[in-house]
This record gives sequence, structure tokens and C-alpha cells, in this order.
Amino acid sequence: MISKFHIKHIEDLHKIKSDDEDVWSKEQFHSYAMSSSGSMSYIYSLNMEVLGYLMSQVVLDEIHIHDIVVSKKFRNKGIGTTMIRYLIESAKRVNKNKICLEVNARNTIAKKLYNKMGFMESGIRNKYYNNVDNAILMDLQI
Ligand SMILES: CC(C)(COP(=O)(O)OP(=O)(O)OC[C@H]1O[C@@H](n2cnc3c(N)ncnc32)[C@H](O)[C@@H]1OP(=O)(O)O)[C@@H](O)C(=O)NCCC(=O)NCCS
Repeated sequence: MISKFHIKHIEDLHKIKSDDEDVWSKEQFHSYAMSSSGSMSYIYSLNMEVLGYLMSQVVLDEIHIHDIVVSKKFRNKGIGTTMIRYLIESAKRVNKNKICLEVNARNTIAKKLYNKMGFMESGIRNKYYNNVDNAILMDLQI
């Protein structure tokens, strides 16, 4: 089940990423929740357990995805695809015509997800992550 992200979910969301991944701090989630008036952010849950989230924000005519994460045990089961599809449908309902994001060039799985959903590469930011890894900019016209 997909529902809107709310401050009450922060404790659960903070635990979803593994220790070896770049986790948002609780404070980051909190400030995101407070500042994102145009937030289109969702959680995916099953039997009351939060298994994934997608944080995005409306910027003028576009929607920017800031993060999408699925709990490690539940990856490769279609949850990421379901959340992106949900965002696309939500974007259409509010007449937005583009979804943008940036992804680490080395994040093969995330790139596969975005390619599968029709995102196209639109640019590159060299050494964007920790001054080492490149970021690929991608967008989807809807
Ligand atoms: C990226 C992420 C959100 C994908 O979520 P997910 O629920 O596992 O994705 P899905 O199961 O919907 O899979 C989508 C596509 O990704 C690819 N994929 C997913 N897991 C894969 C794996 N283990 N090996 C190879 N390809 C894989 C497949 O192409 C799949 O489509 P298909 O099943 O139709 O072939 C998840 O891997 C994750 O949380 N990663 C860590 C956080 C992260 O990197 N987020 C992206 C920030 S830009």
C-alpha cells in the first residue's frame, strides 16, 4: 500500500537503508518534511511495516526525485517500480510534465529501474558524489 509521507514515518524511514548506504539523518527527513510545501513523497508499506519510500518535490512544472529506497530484503520485487508508477500517475493528476533526478553513475540497479520506466539521460555532473563519482541526470517526459 502506498500512502503519503508524514513526519510520523521518520523513525521507520531512517531504518530502511543499510549501514553501508548513504542514509538521510532523522533531522534531514524532518527538515525535508517541514520545508517541502510542494512535496510529493510516499511510503510503501505492507502489514503496517514500511518497506520503502520515495521523496520528491514539485519545482515549477517539474517533479524532482530526491531519493527512492526499498528495504534491502524486499528489493527486486517490484516495489521501486510500483512507487515510480504511482509518482507518474500523481504527477499527471497535478498536470506536471516532467520528472527529473540524478543518480550515481555506478548505481547500475537504480539506472535499470529508471531506464525501465522510460527515463532518459539528459546530462552528467562530473565527480558530483564525494568528489569522486559522476552523477547522471535523467528525466522523464510525461
Ligand atoms: C534502486 C531501488 C530503489 C530499486 O527498488 P526495487 O524495488 O528493488 O526495484 P524493482 O524491483 O522495481 O526493480 C526495478 C528494475 O531494477 C532492476 N533490478 C532490480 N534489482 C536488481 C538486481 N538485484 N539485479 C539486477 N537488476 C535489478 C531490474 O531491471 C528491475 O526491473 P525488472 O524486474 O522488470 O527486470 C533499490 O535497489 C534501492 O533501494 N537501492 C538503494 C537506494 C538507491 O540506490 N536508490 C536510488 C537513489 S538514485
